Amino acid sequence: MENNKKYMIETWGCQMNEHDSEKMSGMLETMGYSKVEDREKSDLIIYNTCLVRENAELKVYGNLGELKSLKRKNPDLIIGICGCMMQKKEVRDVIKEKYGFVDLIFGTHNLHKLPELIANHNQTSKMIVDVWEEGGKIVEGVPAKRKHDFKAFINIMYGCNNFCSYCIVPYTRGRERSRDPEDILNEVFKLAKEGYKEITLLGQNVNSYGKTLESKLSFAQLLRMINEVDGIERIRFMTSHPKDLSEELIYAMRDCNKVCEHLHIPFQAGSNRVLKIMNRKYTKEKYLELIGKIKKEIPNISLTTDIIVGFPGETEEDFEETLNVVKEVGFDSAFTFLYSKREGTPAAKMENQIPDNIKHERFQRLLDTLKPLSHKSNEKYNGEVVEVLVEGTSKTDDTVLSGRTRTNKLVHFKGDKGLRGQLVNVKITTTKTWTLEGILTYEE
Ligand code: 5AD
Ligand code: SF4
Repeated sequence: MENNKKYMIETWGCQMNEHDSEKMSGMLETMGYSKVEDREKSDLIIYNTCLVRENAELKVYGNLGELKSLKRKNPDLIIGICGCMMQKKEVRDVIKEKYGFVDLIFGTHNLHKLPELIANHNQTSKMIVDVWEEGGKIVEGVPAKRKHDFKAFINIMYGCNNFCSYCIVPYTRGRERSRDPEDILNEVFKLAKEGYKEITLLGQNVNSYGKTLESKLSFAQLLRMINEVDGIERIRFMTSHPKDLSEELIYAMRDCNKVCEHLHIPFQAGSNRVLKIMNRKYTKEKYLELIGKIKKEIPNISLTTDIIVGFPGETEEDFEETLNVVKEVGFDSAFTFLYSKREGTPAAKMENQIPDNIKHERFQRLLDTLKPLSHKSNEKYNGEVVEVLVEGTSKTDDTVLSGRTRTNKLVHFKGDKGLRGQLVNVKITTTKTWTLEGILTYEE
């Protein structure tokens, strides 16, 4: 179906949002829309928003303001806004009041209704607001138009039941729901048939996969099943909550040849006192014990994490415990965040919010601690031959390719751009703090 209409989607936030945008692309392309990267050329612009930290939210408002003049120039332009921010009534009220030129407002639970919402708007020319408070039954069969043709995201579950005291996600994504394994496997088979080599299984807490299913399949069992699918060469997953990471899963990671040697395992803070107030339900000792078991079973594993700095009441001693965990584990890299107050979460009401200057000073010390660890973890690769999935070419030189190792390290090397999407062997010749460099080789 061709309707000559053009769309663009701007996405903020996590992989979950990125994949939601791929699903919206799939629906729009089925309707005959084609994708452009230029707002001026678009007939439909969708903002898929994030609420997890304040700066993501502010950026959306800033960008939305810029659309007002576009809409004035082109009154037929449809502007949609969806994603986590829209799950919050206060945000919807601001949009209705201050950004009345927006045409569609919908949430995280009903993006499958996008075609219907567009049709309603076309008929009425009114602002259509349709946000569901809860997720309910998982909607299957929404076609995704994926960003890449060699690696793909697959949702295995939606929502979160953990209510970490700083986090807004349980309020925007609802309660935990697992997809049926048959639906997941069918999607994996289809991707394998289409030539995809790598899949990333997505969930807010993949380790609790299956708890809502009648069949009570565990995540480890699901991994073992997916590992059998011919054609798929690499399996990744995120995110893992330490409290739910079972020995069964560690053994499945060890045994399944396609499951990559990389684990993203957020610890958030090193002090037991802070972890308790964060409602994380593990201690520093438990976390370190878990890391010990993982390293023992999968010695070449690469470990990454999320860390929050400046949680309410965090003392200098608490923060130093975070630094100690970082050093003891020796992370390959980490996503580091300044604590951001999110209205509606328990932590937002806590006293002892940490002043910005202290947060920033600690944040810098954390980065200074992480940097040499990252460099050290890369040095191990010097002279090694690694398998790389070629993702594309350098922005400035299309004879330089880049790709990722199974351990998720970024590698640059010379080669033909026709290798995009292929698995190749690269001999590492230079190691830097954040990247590796090497030469294509046919050695195993
Ligand atoms: N402030 C700062 N970081 C946060 N995260 C979640 N909520 C907040 C917040 N209020 C971080 C956590 C989580 C990651 C996705 O975002 O580290 O693991
Ligand atoms: Fe947020 Fe905690 Fe759920 Fe992760 S596990 S999404 S940090 S509430």
